[in-house]
Amino acid sequence: MLEKLKITGGKQLFGEIAVCGAKNAAVAIIPAALLVNGVCRIENIPDIKDVRLIIDMLVRLGASVTYVDDTTIEVNSSKLKTHIAPMELASRMRASYYLLGALLGRMNRAEVSLPGGCNFGTRPIDLHEKGFRAMGATVEIKDGIVYTEAQQLTGTTIYLDTVSVGATINIMLAAVLAKGRTVIENAAKEPHIVDVANFLNAMGANVRGAGTDVIRINGVPEMKGGTYSIIPDQIEAGTFMLLAAAAGGEVLVRNIIPTHMNCLTSKLEEMGVNVTEYDDSIRIESDGNLKGTSVRTMPYPGFPTDLQPQMVALLSTVGGKSTVDENVWDNRFQYISELLNMGADITINGRRANISGTTLHGAEVTATDLRAGAALIIAGAAAEGVTEIASPHYIDRGYSDIERRLRSIGVKIERIFEAD
Ligand code: EPZ
Repeated sequence: MLEKLKITGGKQLFGEIAVCGAKNAAVAIIPAALLVNGVCRIENIPDIKDVRLIIDMLVRLGASVTYVDDTTIEVNSSKLKTHIAPMELASRMRASYYLLGALLGRMNRAEVSLPGGCNFGTRPIDLHEKGFRAMGATVEIKDGIVYTEAQQLTGTTIYLDTVSVGATINIMLAAVLAKGRTVIENAAKEPHIVDVANFLNAMGANVRGAGTDVIRINGVPEMKGGTYSIIPDQIEAGTFMLLAAAAGGEVLVRNIIPTHMNCLTSKLEEMGVNVTEYDDSIRIESDGNLKGTSVRTMPYPGFPTDLQPQMVALLSTVGGKSTVDENVWDNRFQYISELLNMGADITINGRRANISGTTLHGAEVTATDLRAGAALIIAGAAAEGVTEIASPHYIDRGYSDIERRLRSIGVKIERIFEAD
């Protein structure tokens, strides 16, 4: 059976929608539980495919994982049985690279296949390797498998040549049980970096400075466990804000940390969207009379690359011209061909997309990755007529129960199944 999401566009949206726990924090915090010699209770876990996959991998490594309720798990890693990650699972997702730092930190060795995940240009792991080596580990890549081992991980100063979310987190994971002090310079500052550091500290680690350019980790002999609640997903929140702006109407996005959204909020206001911030929610009001702008993706606190496709979808529907520069990934514009099928007027020049706003029409399109899929939902909701999005499994990797939640604010969306 072929699965698709079918959206009938052109309806304004009204009501409230709540944001789930952050995917990119969860896929780091769950492997981080491997470092803990005791029970970690992790709350506000999003119910998405990537999270289920990483939980399966922990279980195969010997951790016991119990669901307390839909969004809470307890992980007990006191009796790990192997340092070898299950290859067929690990190769399916990018975040499996966190098993390297976590297993190296806990068991002094790890074997994990090279990560898969969304494909938008080269996705090297050289900075992760540089960090592990600087701490005294050997790292070798053979036949698509990364082997790393250390007699004794020892803290040191590591400068990251490029700001990398993955390398910052992986080095933190390797460092929390290492001997002495590790300093990460030019560290990434995304909200989920701070969340992982807070989790590690709640379990007994000593991590300081997360959220700034310099993170200092003083190794501790053991982490004993505790309870932690994952932050709301900045990218899911942004996706809903952009959806409401594109479709028009009035939507309250709940369970949000408004400061994480500053960069998007100011862009939306510049375009003519009415944005009201409350303690933990943001109201979006849009009459559909918006104007174009320019956006440049940058590491946090800049505009997130993971909202770039959704922003391009919105900009394709508003008056005037816009430009979007992708500065994080080499090749994150593949999905634009799908927007062109819907009537968008976009030309690509290297890492810049030049957009002239127009009226989109429904079409048969394909999600090429997670955020590309989210962009097509936004385009479909703003377009005239019916849009069918093939390969919605990409969307399910990062957005939980998406059609039910979007229906609650008035999106006409359903999952359909067609014979092959
Ligand atoms: C994380 O990927 C996210 N994934 C991505 O989100 C996100 O796009 C990205 O950070 C940037 O914000 C997860 O958290 C699981 P990076 P990551 O290391 O860690 C270069 C989504 O849609 N680089 O910050 O893999 C790299 O080529 C996903 O949810 C090196 O050169 O990204 C890129 O240009 C997709 N060497 C830049 O750094 C390295 O060793 C940033 O990558 C590592 C990265």
